[in-house]
Amino acid sequence: MQDKKQVVFSGVQPTGKITLGNYLGAIKNWRPLQEQYQCIFCVVDLHSLTVTQVPAELRKNTMDLLALYIACGLDPDVSTLFVQSHVHEHAELAWILDTVSYVGELNRMTQFKEKSRKHADNINMGLMNYPVLMASDILLYQTDLVPVGKDQVQHLELARNLAERFNSRYSETFVVPQGLVPKTGYSIKSLQDPSAKMSKSDPNENAFVALTDSKEDIRRKLRRAVTDCGSEVRFSPDKPAISNLLTIYCLSSGESVEQAEQRFAGKGYGDFKSAVADAVIAMVEPIQEEQKKLLQDKAYLESVLKRGAESASKTAAKTLAKVYRKVGLVPASR
Ligand code: TRP
Repeated sequence: MQDKKQVVFSGVQPTGKITLGNYLGAIKNWRPLQEQYQCIFCVVDLHSLTVTQVPAELRKNTMDLLALYIACGLDPDVSTLFVQSHVHEHAELAWILDTVSYVGELNRMTQFKEKSRKHADNINMGLMNYPVLMASDILLYQTDLVPVGKDQVQHLELARNLAERFNSRYSETFVVPQGLVPKTGYSIKSLQDPSAKMSKSDPNENAFVALTDSKEDIRRKLRRAVTDCGSEVRFSPDKPAISNLLTIYCLSSGESVEQAEQRFAGKGYGDFKSAVADAVIAMVEPIQEEQKKLLQDKAYLESVLKRGAESASKTAAKTLAKVYRKVGLVPASR
């Protein structure tokens, strides 16, 4: 008998712009996983509601992100691509998991504390509940592996704890998932401050490159990127800004750090930055074109959503029924 493929689950929020950091650190690495694993990629729209959204924008961003997934090579014929709110079990399992989550542990989450500071006027329960909903996303599909960036490791740890806690309280129910943190452990930093992560919510537009930025914007932002002392293009802890640009260059062009250092030996920061821009543009242009094409074919995107939701619902319903049974809820007669 053929071994059952391991399940991979991941998701991105449809909130505004997807940055180069999101792409290089996450989505780009998902594509090759499709060959080896049964992959489920979700547009996590319910998570987005934890900060204030403009409804029409959320709708648009959701379709944009779905099209982007496909443009980035996530194949709806191979993997399950779907929108979180289309599978009602996510919210329902989150409720059950809430009952095994402690206020204290959610209150301690780094991201909750950060977002509470940033959105002090809207510290809603959803913000605190965010990691429980994320655990529900993961556990519903009996996920083995979760590709996540460093900033999500704490949330994944919570998902593992909740799975183990539930299993020990109610008997074996959930697979305890493992993280799939990128081997190189890189993360893409802000172009204006290499000690901060590149973030799409950065108020300074020059701090990040969005995957949808025009060529001119990409060139301008990279030209304005901060650099370090000296003039040498070298990967080193005392050159955090140049190292970040080198990382972007290497991941975009496919060159190794050594190759890149050789290529830019004796050249100044200016030449280097324009080469980084060329590499980034060469990488994002075909994705932008494909995304644009896909967004014009609404019927196709709708069909992808329908198929994705149907496929995801099957597994989700099975898991939720099992959970409801284990906790003692009387099954509904049908
Ligand atoms: N919290 C994740 C982020 O902001 C997004 C997310 C939601 C997610 N549910 C998930 C990631 C499940 C992996 C698995 O990046």
